[in-house]
Parts: sequence; C-alpha cells; structure tokens
Amino acid sequence: MVKIAPSILSADFAFLADEIKKIEVAGADWVHIDVMDGQFVPNLTFGAPVVKCIRKTTEMFFDCHLMVENPEKYIADFKAAGADQMVVHVETTKHLHRCIQQIKGEGMKAGVALNPATPLSTVEEILPYVDMVLLMTVNPGFGGQSFIESMVPKVARLRKMITDAGLDVDIQVDGGINDKTAVLVKEAGANILVAGSYVYGAQDVKAAIESLR
Ligand code: DX5
Ligand code: ZN
Repeated sequence: MVKIAPSILSADFAFLADEIKKIEVAGADWVHIDVMDGQFVPNLTFGAPVVKCIRKTTEMFFDCHLMVENPEKYIADFKAAGADQMVVHVETTKHLHRCIQQIKGEGMKAGVALNPATPLSTVEEILPYVDMVLLMTVNPGFGGQSFIESMVPKVARLRKMITDAGLDVDIQVDGGINDKTAVLVKEAGANILVAGSYVYGAQDVKAAIESLR
C-alpha cells in the first residue's frame, strides 16, 4: 500500500490548521513537515514550537523531515511537541547510529534521508535500525523544483538492498512528485510519496492525492 504525505511547505502558513484539515479530509495518510535551519539548506522554515501548535488541531501522523545540522539536539523537543517520526539526513550528524537510537528511545519512528548525490552505501549499516529511508529526488531546501530522473534507478537499487537484507523498511521519495513521476518511483519500489506543490497547488486536492496512489 502506498502512503501519501503532502508537505505543508507549500501550504499557506497563515492558515496552517485549515491547510492540514484540507489534506486530512482529502484522504492524505501523513503530514510531511519540512524543518530547515538555513545552514544545512539555504532556507528557513519552522521548528518544534510550530509542530506543538498544529498538534492540537489534528490526530494525523506527523512525519518530520529535519534538514538541519546536528539534528540530535532537537529530538527531545520534537517528541514533546508531538512528532510521530523524525527523519534525519546522513549528511548532518557524525553519530548517525546514536541519533537513530535516541529517536527510537523516545518512542518515535526513525528514518534517514539522503541527498541526491549521497550514495546508498552510507545507509548500509544503519538499515536494520530504521523504519524508513527517504531518498531526495530534488536537492533539499525548496518546494516546486523539478524531479531528478536519475533517482529512479537509485530507488530500485535501495529496494533491492532492503529485500536482499531481508528487512522491512519503507522507501519515501521527496521532491518533484506529481502524477507522472509517482508512477516511476512506485515502479522502482518507493511506497511513501511526499508531494508539496502538486497537492497544495491543485484545484481538487482529493483528486490530486488519489492520482498519486
Ligand atoms: C524540499 C522538501 C520537500 C518539498 C517538496 O526540500 O523536503 O518536502 O516540500 O516539494 P515539491 O513536492 O513541491 O517538490
Ligand atoms: Zn521534505
């Protein structure tokens, strides 16, 4: 089963509660929350205080994508704010295994994310410890960028790595996902699709979400 996780990066931040309700009634599975620090990526968004506020408005699964340096500093804050999952970039921490253990220790699901140019070998040793691997299909930092086609075989290679290891790990893709690129990544083995501008820019949000399944 494919899960759809609309990214609120493309929502109107002045009406966040309404924007989340909009995707909830349209049948989205998760809320994808893009946290950016202006250091790891050239953009700033929001942190745990905003997550805490929106937590009061919905029961939906909060999938927090941390595009920040040293994400281990924020694990307790995100747990307290009501995050269900934290996904950290392998490029952002010197102690990835410890970071993942801390996220799991807080009772959250844990994922690792890879930039387009980061090889799959960087997740080989951590695969048995994570619930999900996020493969970026654009360079992180902004919504509305074009899908990088060469990431499709990368998804397929990761799916094979997971199967060969006898593991049950989800593959999420993020960036440039629409009704066309969704077909390619699903065929390659991705089962959780993030979409920001495609969902929030649609006239009919429900139809947009359905078109990705
Ligand atoms: C990019 C973010 C994405 C972003 C995707 O750094 O991680 O989640 O919202 O936006 P679209 O779907 O518009 O490419
Ligand atoms: Zn994201």
